[in-house]
Amino acid sequence: MSVLIYPFKPKILQSNREELMGQRAKLIWFTGLSGSGKSTLATELEFELWEMKYKTFLLDGDNVRAGLSRDLDFTDNGRIENIRRIGEVAKLFIDAGIIVLSAFISPFRFERNLVRDLVGGENFLEIFVDTPLETCEQRDVKGLYKKARNGEIPNFTGINSPYEQPENPFVSIPTHKMTMEESIGMLKKYILPLIEK
Ligand code: ADX
Repeated sequence: MSVLIYPFKPKILQSNREELMGQRAKLIWFTGLSGSGKSTLATELEFELWEMKYKTFLLDGDNVRAGLSRDLDFTDNGRIENIRRIGEVAKLFIDAGIIVLSAFISPFRFERNLVRDLVGGENFLEIFVDTPLETCEQRDVKGLYKKARNGEIPNFTGINSPYEQPENPFVSIPTHKMTMEESIGMLKKYILPLIEK
């Protein structure tokens, strides 16, 4: 950190804001291959939390890459910088007492651990959307796997760029073996006790 920067100690703390919000702030971090179902699950979970009056915010890969990270590519360094930025943004939301849901491939253990350290281990809930590559490729919702197989996309996760599975995720969701309802039910079972005041 630059010697010219002197972060000040805020008067209102995360705990004060959580009190006001009537909830405990967390970062619910969905990781998995492209097409694994991260955004779908995060969107539905956020909707159900919102219905229960929780104050939430969703950060999603494709949206963030169209704005905050639009100058970044999909090289290892581009991805790490993308995730670092998301981590910093999520940290601000957590400080504000908000429950953040995020849906990014975040393929490297190192970068996920970076976010965990940044926001604090007690605030970081890693959700592994455990859908096999074959299933993602069969779904190919955006047609990107076909393009990657044709050599049109460099560094495509799962094809010519690695994905490192979480070793000890908070929850794993094998979306190819579970319905949406079952998946959301499981997430709520584990997450609700941690966010309610
Ligand atoms: S991450 O690796 O930096 O975490 P992120 O989640 O932001 O990735 O963006 C992934 C989305 O970008 C994918 O769902 C896909 O639509 C699009 N995309 C474009 N190029 C690539 C690529 N080379 N690898 C993976 N996803 C890509």
